[in-house]
Formats: sequence, C-alpha cells, structure tokens
Amino acid sequence: MAGKKIIVSNRLPVTVKESQEGDIEFSPSAGGLATGLSSIYKEEGNLWIGWPGMIDVDKKQEKTITKALHKDNMFPVFLSKQEIKKYYEGYSNGTLWPLFHYFTEFAKFDDEEWQMYVMVNQRFCDAILQNASDDDVIWVHDYQLLLLPGMLRERLPNATIGFFQHIPFPSYEIFRLLPHRVQILQGMIGADLLGFHTYDDMRHFMSSVSRILGYGHSMGNISVGNRLIAVDAFPMGIDYEKFEQSARSRKTHTVLQRYKSLWQDQKLILSIDRLDYTKGIKRRLLALDRFLDAYPDYKGKVSMILLVVPSRDKVGQYQQLKEEIDTLVGNINGKHSRLNWMPIHYFYRSLSFPVLSALYTRSDVALITPNRDGMNLVCKEYVASKVDRKGVLILSEMAGAAKELSEAILINPNDEGQIVEAIKSALEMPLEEQSTRLLDMQQKLKRYNVHKWVDRFMEGLTVIKNRQKELD
Ligand code: UDP
Ligand code: G6P
Repeated sequence: MAGKKIIVSNRLPVTVKESQEGDIEFSPSAGGLATGLSSIYKEEGNLWIGWPGMIDVDKKQEKTITKALHKDNMFPVFLSKQEIKKYYEGYSNGTLWPLFHYFTEFAKFDDEEWQMYVMVNQRFCDAILQNASDDDVIWVHDYQLLLLPGMLRERLPNATIGFFQHIPFPSYEIFRLLPHRVQILQGMIGADLLGFHTYDDMRHFMSSVSRILGYGHSMGNISVGNRLIAVDAFPMGIDYEKFEQSARSRKTHTVLQRYKSLWQDQKLILSIDRLDYTKGIKRRLLALDRFLDAYPDYKGKVSMILLVVPSRDKVGQYQQLKEEIDTLVGNINGKHSRLNWMPIHYFYRSLSFPVLSALYTRSDVALITPNRDGMNLVCKEYVASKVDRKGVLILSEMAGAAKELSEAILINPNDEGQIVEAIKSALEMPLEEQSTRLLDMQQKLKRYNVHKWVDRFMEGLTVIKNRQKELD
C-alpha cells in the first residue's frame, strides 16, 4: 500500500470557532477518536477529512479555514445548520448513539433525519473522491459515517477501504430495532476490513450481518457475493509516551506546584468524561454521597475533581443531564461541605493538556463508571500518567477497556453499593499492591499503544487485499 492514508471522520481533530472579534480560532477537539488519532496523522503525511465544527460558514470564511487546515493535512467538509440538526444531532446522536449504547428508550426514528444522514454521507463521499488517488488507503471512522464505505465502493470498486467503529456494536436484538438496518449494514460491508474495539462488538456485528443480510461468516471473514471482507477486534491504544513524558515534564510539575497547598493532605478522586448519559456520571455522584454517609471519617480528607467536558449541547438528553448533574453536585456539596473543605470540585469545560496531565498524575483514584463505553481512553491515560506507580483505577466492566485492564478494581456501574466499597478499597489499598497493579497495566498499554493499533489495522487491510487478489 504505497499511497497516502486518508482518515475520514465526522469531526476533525481540531475545532474551528469564530471569536467575539470575528477572528477564526482553532482548538483541539475532545473525544477519544480525535485525541487518539491526532498523534498519528500528521507525522506520516496523511490527510484527514472531516467537519471542522463550525456551522453555516460563509464563502470567505470557508476559504480561510480550508487554507489553514490544508497546511496541517486536513480537508474540511462544511455542514449547514439543517445538516447538523438532522444528520449530527438527529440521526447520529439521537438514533444511532443511544441505540448502540443500549439506551433504546432515547432512540428516535425519524425519516427526515435518516434522509439527511444519507445525504451527508454522500457529501463526505464526494469530498473523498476529490482527494483520493488509486493507491490511497481510505480509513473511515465511526457511526456518523456507516453508509460511506458502501458509497465509496460503488464509485471506486477496487479501492482499499477500512472502517473502524469507536462505539459498541449492540446485540442483534437491539440492532434489529433500527428501521434502516439493512441499508446500514450494506453501507458498512462496503469496507474491506471492519474493526471494532472488542470481540463482543465484532461477534454482534457478524451475527447481525448473517441474520439480517444472510451472509455467513467463517474465521472473521464474510463472503459478500464474490468479494471477501474481514472483521476483527482492534482495541485502541493511546500515545503512551506522550502521557508518560508529560507526567515527568517540568510543565506538569509547575502546574502541580501551583495547587500543592490547596490539595495538601487531601486524597483526590478523579472523574473525567464528556457530558454524556452513557458515562454513568449521576450514579457515580450518588455513590460518592453514599460513601461520605457511610464513612464520615473521610470528610475533610478526600475530594472529587469532577471534570465534565461540554458535548452535544443542542441535544435534549444532554441538556437535561447537565441540569441533573448541576443539581446533584449542589446537593452533595451543600450536604457535606465544611468551611474549609468541599467534597466536589466541579468543572464544566475542557482543560488544557498540561492541566489534564497534572490531574492524572496527582489523583489517588480514578473513578470511571460508564454504563456502556466502546473503549474509554481516559482510564488508559490515567494509568500511563502514573509514573510513580501510586494510584488506583476503578473501572466499569461495561467499558471496552475493562477487557484489557483486569488489574483495575472492576465494578458494575449499576451497583451503587459496590462502587461505594470500591472507593473505600481504593483509598485504603497498600502502596505495594497499587504499584503491582499499575505496573501490569502499564506494560500492556505501553506494548499495545496507538501506533501499534494503526499498524495492526493496516496489516489487516494488506492481508485481506492479498486474499482478495488470490481469489480473483
Ligand atoms: N479530553 C479532552 N479534553 C478534556 C478532557 C479530556 O480532550 O478537557 C480527552 C481525553 O484526554 C480523552 C478523550 O477526551 O482522550 C475522551 O476519550 P474517551 O475514549 O475516554 O471518551 P469519548 O469522549 O470518546 O466517549
Ligand atoms: C465519541 C465518538 C466520536 C466523537 C466523540 C466526540 O468518541 O466515538 O465519534 O467524535 O465522541 O463527540 P462529538 O459529537 O463532539 O464529535
């Protein structure tokens, strides 16, 4: 595969905003897809095609943004207000996201939103056709673009197309609820190789393909007519070195020094997520409340740093969750605070990398309790940042990462009592045990970092392309 890699995702790794003075500003995008892949696309001279995050951009701004992004190997797909409403907030985040995370009661089925989803996938297809040459590898990412591999296959029958899904693939009984399940699967199998974070996701996908489309599978291969495609699990890694080095850096230590006196003698429990109902933030807060009731000696000695990164704030469920979190934090702080101590330090914003790194480094416990999560990179970043091997990870079994990080304290996110006891065990865990558990996890994450993840996926694509040639 001699050409370039074209990465395609709904969101680019940088988000463009207009400042109050009318200037164009660029900032890093949040979310595992953008942060995870941003370490690899620049260094290899690849191209990343996606939405720059701004809505209804005028022609002059389009030109300025396109030029600026071009310098960094990015190509923008601009979307209008209507497209964002129906394709992004609507079908992607009001239908597919809740359904694929098993929140079936939140999923709505709206034909106009579906039509827009088809049209925007077509817009992405056109953008790729403008940029691709025959020997390029096109790597499509995530649930916003499930139809794209099929659209590309129609226009470029011999192209090398990979697809990776960053969120769970649900069981057949859930997936079959989707009115356009046939079209969605047909879109996905346009790829030569489909990757998922876990074997369970992969198994669920193959079961839906065989029960809905009638294509059988064997050893991770599916015969789609006379074309063979491959499906495999590729658990996404992180840029391990970046977090390890940052934890040791002067910049991080400067940040830590600044807050040292504030947090002296305090055990810190870290909670970091995008604002999302899949992340289990409410139950986590209720568990902290219960912990302080059950073990009042910890009052004044332990605090939670609650970082909630704004996300999809035009979608109803997200707005409601924000209000619920605000109320819960207020209630818990009101109930347990002392004049010189507060149980929760709450931040609703995104933080710069050095501050994030300092929080990972300093926190005694990371409490990560999603109801359902494709992977969850935050927990991996926490482990990689623990260069002194002091710290405990409490992790939900429902996160894809739990399959790899068995040395964490694993909990069922619906079991509030279990979370309470896990917090206590984490705070009281002997240093030697903390170190042993962290070391085991660090060795795995170091070995299987994001670069290895990309290499494995690319090797998988080469293998399936060669097999297709042999069978021709
Ligand atoms: N993150 C960020 N800004 C912040 C806090 C976190 O960009 O202020 C990053 C974090 O480092 C991680 C990503 O957001 O890489 C979240 O990825 P994860 O897989 O945990 O969850 P997702 O948001 O993709 O569901
Ligand atoms: C998850 C999804 C990504 C998405 C990210 C942030 O990580 O898998 O596709 O980009 O969340 O969400 P947003 O809607 O802001 O792009």
